[in-house]
Amino acid sequence: MRENLSKKASAAGQGENPDGVDAVAISARNIVKTYTIGREGKPMLVLDDVSLDVRRGEFLAIIGPSGSGKTTLLRIIASLESADSGQVIAQGRPVTQPSAERAMVFQHFGLFPWKNIIDNVKFPLKIRGVKDAEATAIARDQLRRVGLKPQFEQSHPHQLSGGMQQRVGLARALATDADVLLMDEPFGALDAQTREVLQGDLARVCAQTSKTVILVTHDIDEAVLLADRILVLTAGPGRVGEIVDVDLPRPRWEYDVRAHPKYPEVRRHVWDLLRSHITEDGANDGD
Ligand SMILES: Nc1ncnc2c1ncn2[C@@H]1O[C@H](COP(=O)(O)OP(=O)(O)OP(=O)(O)O)[C@@H](O)[C@H]1O
Ligand SMILES: [Mg+2]
Repeated sequence: MRENLSKKASAAGQGENPDGVDAVAISARNIVKTYTIGREGKPMLVLDDVSLDVRRGEFLAIIGPSGSGKTTLLRIIASLESADSGQVIAQGRPVTQPSAERAMVFQHFGLFPWKNIIDNVKFPLKIRGVKDAEATAIARDQLRRVGLKPQFEQSHPHQLSGGMQQRVGLARALATDADVLLMDEPFGALDAQTREVLQGDLARVCAQTSKTVILVTHDIDEAVLLADRILVLTAGPGRVGEIVDVDLPRPRWEYDVRAHPKYPEVRRHVWDLLRSHITEDGANDGD
């Protein structure tokens, strides 16, 4: 059963699948990252030889104990942080700087408080030189996709609830037309019901647009609901523990995936892996 559920984590090389290397959207190769901590600048290994391949159109969830380096890995993939060694490859080319092809969505979406909602969503388009009328049309379309009502277009972020702000953040990421979405606990701060609605929205939009997504989450149910595969990172220093295939039918937002007979099996497997990595001395906590 274990064999059916999982692939051992020699994740590099998975790009050499029958579809050929072209099918790989993003690869991380042997990523090593060390931070220095404390006054003495003691080195702390955060990521230890992490490799992964994400196929085009695939939804990969990354889960791991707190401090296992999930955010650091995502920031390295986005080129917002540099690795000590190793390489990130997108569409066959080494990644050396942030790109509009990869949109990063943070837990706190970083909306500009002084800009209204429509201008927040238009911002990445304007930077790219898209004409105002076209940018407005694209932004409106994305806001509609994520279910934000048009009457909020002129509101400012502080006038919206947390869930609505996250919809705006998601709309902005989608408006960039980035092929790859890098999402760091995007729904972490939401109440359970809003989270569930937005998870469904994200699943639907991703299916409609064939985005490649890497989603960092602490929520096993979210990972199983959304992902094609779940990468489990070990406690800090983060290593690829295992990659679990989520072999559940799609579209998953149209029925209660939790009612599927395979669901508890997959969930239990991920939880067992995660629990085995949450050791007594824990992840990197600076001690
Ligand atoms: N800029 C930094 N300088 C020094 N140490 C850092 C820095 N950023 C992260 N770290 C350390 O690296 C380790 C991994 O941090 P990271 O934020 O990647 O973990 P995480 O898996 O995302 O954790 P969480 O689940 O709590 O979000 C932690 O011990 C953290 O303290
Ligand atoms: Mg994090």
